[in-house]
Amino acid sequence: MKARVLSGVQPSGQLHIGNYLGALKNWAEIQGHYESIFCIVDLHAITVYQKPEELSAKIRETAALFIAAGIDPDQSSIVVQSSVPGHAELAWLLTCVTPLGWLYRMTQFKAKAEKQETVGDGLLQYPVLMAADILIYQASIVPVGEDQSQHLELARDIAQRFNSLYGETFVMPATHLPTVGARIMGLDDPTQKMSKSAAGAGHAIALLDDAKVIQKKIARATTDSKPAIDTEEMGPGIANLLTIAQACDSSLTKESVAGMRYGDFKKRVAEAVIARLEPIQQRYREITADAAYIDGVLERGRQHVLPIAEDTISKVKRAMGLYV
Ligand code: TYM
Repeated sequence: MKARVLSGVQPSGQLHIGNYLGALKNWAEIQGHYESIFCIVDLHAITVYQKPEELSAKIRETAALFIAAGIDPDQSSIVVQSSVPGHAELAWLLTCVTPLGWLYRMTQFKAKAEKQETVGDGLLQYPVLMAADILIYQASIVPVGEDQSQHLELARDIAQRFNSLYGETFVMPATHLPTVGARIMGLDDPTQKMSKSAAGAGHAIALLDDAKVIQKKIARATTDSKPAIDTEEMGPGIANLLTIAQACDSSLTKESVAGMRYGDFKKRVAEAVIARLEPIQQRYREITADAAYIDGVLERGRQHVLPIAEDTISKVKRAMGLYV
């Protein structure tokens, strides 16, 4: 049996080049080697308020972007998290073995909670639901960007605690980071991670931005005041642009850009990004022209994973002494 891969993206905000280089690109590259399940994690998205009509459109848009970015629905299962009841069910069972202190330590919880007037319980439980997403499929590999590393450590801690309390039940999942692009920073502030929820217009390159917008955003990206690239001492803004360019076009090495003037370098970066995103955007337009196609893919994904999820739930309930 092939090892199983699981990962997910929240259908909130605009998917950006950080999501692509940190996650989707890597998924497309490894999918053929494993049994792959990629989730649109709508139950995670509602840990902060989402307008219902926008959320339901975003779920399909995210599925279309998965496919456009190279996830092949004939090789991988594309699944909406809320369409498989076992995710939420397992999350509750895992909540009961998770010490509260582990959850309060999560840096993403602290950062998100700071921005909310009232902090919902769901925000605290967020990483337990994420552990459930992974453990329900007994996934051994989880390809993510670096910002998810702490959540994955927690998933392993929860699995270990469950296994030691109730007997060997869960496979231990390993974190799989991309070699280039595990942490893409904001164009407007290279000390902050590029994020879907950040407000600034020049912060992120959305996967669906057109060529002109991409050129403009990169031209305005924050750098330092040097005139040209000094490979011995690159500031964070230039280093981030080089990472983006390299992840889009591997011929753009540090050596190949040494001494390049910033203006020329930014033009090269924009060209590499546009060349990478244009075919994805073209494919996205083709896919979204046929609404029934996406629903078909999501239903096929659900049917494929349901028995795996049900099997784990029975195993877990039996291990805990619940009524099966
Ligand atoms: P989300 O929706 O924030 O991001 C989706 C994926 O994109 C990666 N990513 C980045 N990579 C590099 N640079 C960045 N600036 C950047 N921003 C985001 C994320 O690491 C992620 O891989 N909690 C998860 C979703 C989730 C999940 C799961 C992931 C729910 N259940 C189970 C793996 C397994 C999240 O919010 O991702």
